[in-house]
Amino acid sequence: MAEKKVAEEYTIDDLPGVGEATAEKLREAGYDNMMTLAVASPRDLAEVTGIGEGAAAKIIAAARKYADVGNFETGEQILERRKEIQKLTTGSKALDDLLGGGLETQAITEFYGEFGSGKTQVMHQLAVNATMPKDKGGFDTDVLILDTENTFRPERIVQMANFRGADPDETLKRIHVARAYNSHHQILLAEKAADETKEYQARLMIVDSLTSHFRAEYMGRGSLAERQQLLNRHMHTLLKYSTVSNAVIAVTNQVSARPDVFFGDPTAPIGGNIVGHTATFRVYLRKSKAGKRIARLVDSPHLPEGEVVVQISEDGICDVQNA
Ligand code: GTP
Ligand code: MG
Repeated sequence: MAEKKVAEEYTIDDLPGVGEATAEKLREAGYDNMMTLAVASPRDLAEVTGIGEGAAAKIIAAARKYADVGNFETGEQILERRKEIQKLTTGSKALDDLLGGGLETQAITEFYGEFGSGKTQVMHQLAVNATMPKDKGGFDTDVLILDTENTFRPERIVQMANFRGADPDETLKRIHVARAYNSHHQILLAEKAADETKEYQARLMIVDSLTSHFRAEYMGRGSLAERQQLLNRHMHTLLKYSTVSNAVIAVTNQVSARPDVFFGDPTAPIGGNIVGHTATFRVYLRKSKAGKRIARLVDSPHLPEGEVVVQISEDGICDVQNA
């Protein structure tokens, strides 16, 4: 007897009214799961698929039956969940203090800044720190890294682990890295993170960089809406993982140094409101002298804005020593 499929096992091809050609057009436009269809507008769907708005509305209605749109929770349940929030050390006491004790679980923290500002270094340090025991500011957990720019360097992990007194081989074993080849691949990898972590716990997920593929693939004003829609979906996948797994999500973002392409403030992070509204904490990194970096907390819901200076060296991210 064939087993009945559970809701998550249905794909958009299972929806009534979605033939092969329509499914392909939907996927091309980014509507490749029940959730994106469930929240789509009939007009938008009609436009990308060429089917009538009435037929599009029927597809949307069907998708809503399968989509995991989430549930209401009582304030009490939310309070209980928030009691579980933990903080991951950055390696710098000054930066931890600026963040109210470290990077929070159940939230997304974004580090943005220009090339060479130290974003990838901070991500490596966080990965090492997360594997460390709780009394050293870690979570004693495995780590997921979505590497979009091929900048993960195990050699750096070894250096940083050695400095912190951790076993480099054990540390490397707990860091799981996936290369994301394009934005859709990146989105998919994030969606699979929950499956990936069935065998082990990963209470830190890193996306370095959050926006580089989106930026490269969706150039110019014409494709901005589509880019923002996909980025929004990706951010919500990450946020969901952070709450379900009580995990820290750390992402990097470049600044829009090419105003001809990204329109506006050259020191503004890519992704605009979508990233800004979903990231709970935003830290702006700037280069300074002699391996120092200035970290500025921007837009936090409950912490004052402020700046601290950290040191990047072979040992990783540390406080500046005032010798
Ligand atoms: P993009 O990804 O290009 O936007 O830059 P990023 O912000 O990720 O910069 P990244 O973290 O790669 O920073 C690179 C910089 O970190 C280098 O220019 C060095 O200044 C510093 N750095 C990296 N590794 C070491 C190291 O082993 N020792 C020291 N002293 N500095 C290092
Ligand atoms: Mg980088």
